[in-house]
Parts: sequence; structure tokens; C-alpha cells
Amino acid sequence: MTVLKVGLAGLGTVGGGTWKVCEKNSDEIIRKAGRKVKIVAVAEPARNKFLSLGENGISYFSDAMELIEVPEIDVIVELIGGDTFAKMLVLKALKNGKHVVTANKALLAKHGNEIFEVAEKNRVTVGFEAAVAGGIPILKVLREGLTANSIDWVAGIINGTSNYVLSEMEDRGISFDQALKEAQDLGFAESDPTLDIEGNDSAHKLSLLASMAFGIKINLDKILVSGIKDLDLKEVIYAKKLGYKIKSLGIARRTDSCLELRVHSTLIPENCLMANVNGAMNAVMVKGNSVGNTLYYGQGAGAEPTASAVVADLVDIARNSIGNVSARVPALSYQSNHIRDLNILEDGLIKSGFYIRLRVLDRAGVLADVTRCLSNEDISIESFFQKKPREDENSTDVVLLTHECLGKNILDSIKAIKLVKNVIDDPIILRVESLK
Ligand code: HSE
Repeated sequence: MTVLKVGLAGLGTVGGGTWKVCEKNSDEIIRKAGRKVKIVAVAEPARNKFLSLGENGISYFSDAMELIEVPEIDVIVELIGGDTFAKMLVLKALKNGKHVVTANKALLAKHGNEIFEVAEKNRVTVGFEAAVAGGIPILKVLREGLTANSIDWVAGIINGTSNYVLSEMEDRGISFDQALKEAQDLGFAESDPTLDIEGNDSAHKLSLLASMAFGIKINLDKILVSGIKDLDLKEVIYAKKLGYKIKSLGIARRTDSCLELRVHSTLIPENCLMANVNGAMNAVMVKGNSVGNTLYYGQGAGAEPTASAVVADLVDIARNSIGNVSARVPALSYQSNHIRDLNILEDGLIKSGFYIRLRVLDRAGVLADVTRCLSNEDISIESFFQKKPREDENSTDVVLLTHECLGKNILDSIKAIKLVKNVIDDPIILRVESLK
């Protein structure tokens, strides 16, 4: 039995988890892969992390580039992160004929097109299941399980930090700042959570999901991104009153020959399954034109859940090489000569329902003026309510939900609403999705 020899670059949370899963499940892996998957070398600048693995007879390097020079290594597992050194490492490994497995979504979102091209040229594989939604095998779903379908849309809660913060705001009625601070204290959020709360981590993942779902190049720059950092608790409370929850969603949807790519806070009906994905959990819905709606749920981060995806990619590589094929299925699901461009829609051309919150002086005629601004843009109101002002208040909140309409019509109506006498403060606008 030949052994699949792995060089592990990075012994952080996921690297440590990968080591553990390979050790703990080694018998199970042999039965499934048909051969042993063995980490034969580790590269990690902090030697104490390597020493903490105990007596193991494997080679140690402080510099990951040295792994590439080890002829016996078949696969480099890149768990270093970042997109500068990691890019050099991955490209060099592929050019040296080594397969690569990575959890690095930022790297692939920014440089994936080049990386997959180099991999194909060198007849090696890039496994990246761990890069999207951690332990949920969503890439395999798109690549294999749903391959018979033309995909209509993919929508995911793909950032656990944002979902944790939103869940706490909703459950406990606390502000964004307090929820984030508590998440950091409990270790659910990074000390620098910028990538998460500004939506960029979700955008990285969405760029990969969209590429696989629709057979397009990875288009990070064309994604409309807004995070949760400016979300006021009021929106969470009012959404609940209207029968909705607010989730930060990554959405990729095909409309005719165009594509929507967006990450933003979204109202979704409280009785749909996605609305009940709470805490740091992730979930991805995929609608295929034959299968209909499907839903995948699980941990989107953490040592062993993410390592579960890393090791699954290793098992795939081990299985492929037994069959003497470099890649049984294309990494991005579509054959590379069938990857094409789709026109990606700008915000104004994307349709959805909208939530609008206005702060108004409680005077006769203000609602009539506001609704006229909406009807002038052909926007129909689905429901609305006005908060009863407190005795010491002379202004109040009015919340409206619209039927589906174009983003540009909403923006035009908002321009007019801002000019209405007795409307104070800038209106707050969020999209509403039915996920049907
Ligand atoms: N920081 C990510 C999250 C996990 O909060 O979901 C890794 O992608």
C-alpha cells in the first residue's frame, strides 16, 4: 500500500485540527482512501507548536518553502493564511507537481483564477473545501451532488462571527457593539474582526461558491458588499415585529443571462429554516432547477470541523491517485474550457423586497407624502407600521416593507423621500428575500 505523503504548512487552529483528525481517524481514512494519508513533514515558525505534537518522527521546517523541496511529499496543505507568501508557496508547489489543499479563501478569491490555471497545466489538484463554510461540504455538493442541475441561486450564512453577533442582538436585545465585544471576549470573534463584520470574509467565500455554481471565473471585485457593522438594534427589533429575522447573507443568483453577487444584511421570513440558523453556525441554501431547494448546515469554523474538510480533500487526492487520475472532477466543477463570463448586475438592477425605516415628525400628511414618493416609482407597499411616540418625543419611526422592485427605483424614491417636509434623518434601507 503506497502512502499519500503530506507536508503541513501552518500549525495554527486548523493545522492542529488537521494533525488531530489524521491521527484520530487514520484507520477509517485507510478504509476509505485505500491507502494511508500521512503527514510526513510540518512547517511552522513556532517550534514549540511542533514540539507539542509529541514524539512523531516527522520532519520539521521553520520555513514552509522548504517543504516544496522535499521530493517525497505528494501534497502541500497550506494553512498559513494571508495572500502574499501563501500565493508564492501554492504556485511553487503546483509548479513542482505537488497537489495543494488549502483553507485560504482570501487567497483563492483574489488569485484563484491564476492558481487553478497553473494546477490544471501541471495536472495537479487544488482542494479547497475548507475555504467555504468550514465543515459543511458545500463545494462537493455543487461539484458533484447537484451536478445534474442548472443552479438558480445560492444563499448562505457563511460568516459565523456575523451570525453570532446578529443572533445575540436578536435574542438579548443588545447593541451591535456590545454583542461584538462579548463575542471577542468569548473567543467567537477575532480581536480584529474587520474582515468578518465588513462582509469581506463572506465575499471571499461567495466568490468561490458563485464560480462553482455558475461556471464563471472568480469575480471578487464585482460582489456588492456591506457588512453588519452599521446595523442598528432597531432594525432587528422592527424586523421581528414584522415576522422577519435579519441575517447577513451571501447571495449569488442567476437572472436570465445575468448574475447577482451580493453580501449584505437581509430580512428573511422568521419561519424559514435559514432564519433559525443561530449563533456561530453556518448554512447554505442552493436551489437547483431539478432538485428544488436544498439546505446544508454545520460549523463554519473551528479546528476539527474545518480539518474535516481539509482531510476530505486529502482523501480525494489519495483516491484519485489510486485510479491514476490527477483530478476525477474539475476543481471548479465546470470543465475549464466551459467557464464563461456572465454579466454581473449592479445594485440598481437587482430586484427584491425592501425594508425602509424613516424617522418622521408626527404631523398630518407625512405618510401620504412618503407613499406618494414610492408610488411615483411604481413601488407597492406590502405592510407598514408606525411606532407610537413616547410622550416626550415629537418624532417617531415609520417602517415600510415593499413588494419586489428594482434597487434603482428604491434609490430614486428615497431621494424624493429625503426632501419630504417632516422626514428627518436619513432613511435606513435593507433588502428582503423570501428564499423561495
Ligand atoms: N472568521 C470566519 C467566520 C471563519 O467568522 O465565519 C473563517 O472563515
